[in-house]
Amino acid sequence: MKIVDLLPDDPLKIEQVARLLNEEFAPVSWTTSEEAHEEVQDAFTPGRINKVALNDAGDVIGWIGGRPYYALVWELHPLVVRADYQRQGIGRALVAELEKAVKERGGLTITLGSDDEADLTSLGGVELYPNVLEKLANIKNLRAHPYEFYQKIGFSIVGVIPDANGFGKPDILLAKRVG
Ligand SMILES: CC(C)(COP(=O)(O)OP(=O)(O)OC[C@H]1O[C@@H](n2cnc3c(N)ncnc32)[C@H](O)[C@@H]1OP(=O)(O)O)[C@@H](O)C(=O)NCCC(=O)NCCS
Repeated sequence: MKIVDLLPDDPLKIEQVARLLNEEFAPVSWTTSEEAHEEVQDAFTPGRINKVALNDAGDVIGWIGGRPYYALVWELHPLVVRADYQRQGIGRALVAELEKAVKERGGLTITLGSDDEADLTSLGGVELYPNVLEKLANIKNLRAHPYEFYQKIGFSIVGVIPDANGFGKPDILLAKRVG
């Protein structure tokens, strides 16, 4: 496995990344090939970080993007690993590459939002107000929501946006200091 920059003049890899988004996130996000391609094109906006993991055959097996957010903060968006390569350290390696690139650019913090649109955690499908922080402090992972992946690689939960994607569909916020 190796990690390289995704370049705008590489239509084969761009197609593989778009397909990956489709396969891993539909029917929740990027449900059409067109939407997936728009997301990939968006990642070529100047100033962003845009990297792919390749297997020995040179096929895309993972993708990570990073964009300047504000002050010294960068947002990780998106991250995806091909299903048949998950749980083999690819996600961890992609985030490590992003951290390196953010640090080189003078960033200090990486943050991200990880949605729960399918009741994968104890925060999904319930009323979070008014004791939002209490419910967040007692979060339980019910069905392999990726927030635990991020915790394993050093991120902390720093907040939650109730109803971000509709009632009972919150966005769980995580952050990590780089370096
Ligand atoms: C979440 C995702 C990026 C993780 O990538 P990955 O390559 O499978 O993760 P890694 O193999 O590097 O895992 C690192 C650690 O996190 C754990 N982990 C991975 N996914 C996990 C999950 N969903 N829940 C709990 N732990 C998880 C691994 O077991 C491993 O633990 P270990 O260090 O104790 O062995 C990948 O599963 C994926 O693309 N999922 C679909 C898309 C998605 O949810 N993207 C994130 C949106 S915010």
